[in-house]
Amino acid sequence: GTRHGLVVAIDGPAGAGKSTVAAHLARTFGLLNLETGAMYRALALKALRGDVVVTDGAAVLALTHSTTITLEPSANGNRVLLDGEDVTAALRNPDVTQAASQVSTHGPVRVWMVNSQRTLGLAAPTGVVMEGRDIGTVVFPDADVKIFLDASVEARGDRRYAQQPATESKEDLLRDMRERDKRDRERTESPLRPADDAVLVDTTGMTLDQVLERAAAIVAKVAQR
Ligand code: DC
Repeated sequence: GTRHGLVVAIDGPAGAGKSTVAAHLARTFGLLNLETGAMYRALALKALRGDVVVTDGAAVLALTHSTTITLEPSANGNRVLLDGEDVTAALRNPDVTQAASQVSTHGPVRVWMVNSQRTLGLAAPTGVVMEGRDIGTVVFPDADVKIFLDASVEARGDRRYAQQPATESKEDLLRDMRERDKRDRERTESPLRPADDAVLVDTTGMTLDQVLERAAAIVAKVAQR
């Protein structure tokens, strides 16, 4: 279809810095920032609240038929509305985090997500930076810029541990992160992987400022064409 704005896809595993990079790019280039993981998290929260078994694909899909998830821009990332209720804070809970990864294994659920994400992205008049696991491979395979952020599991664990309120020990956090990464990378439906034409950025030894600068330079090259 006709596209009016720049589309920037940011993919990678948990804790690689996707959200921070996406927020920075949104500010720098005036793009709408959409965190697709928040949509999987919101659906997972609804499943947990309604005693829907997250490994039951048909049951989770049925849930989508009566669910509205809205992402709203805010100063730091997205505000998430689940059927009109602000659930932003609840989405960071470790139970919701694992459930989101489970929910995201179901093909038909992903189709529903991908369709909503395309609609949201294309509606942004000045362009969009969309962050997730399958943006460059599935949601916007023709994105103008694709960045795949990665880092060692230790570095990602350290960053997440420094970010979170003290809800989990570092060991628990690392164990959960490894389990989730494995599921996200090994699932049959749109597994986490870099698109063939993605720019790979390994942030293991980089400072936050270096990562932000590098990402902005990658987008600037394309934005100025
Ligand atoms: O980015 P995040 O940690 O908020 O994502 C939560 C889970 O949602 C993640 O473990 C896998 C899934 N997810 C996905 O499968 N595809 C996306 N585009 C975004 C997230």
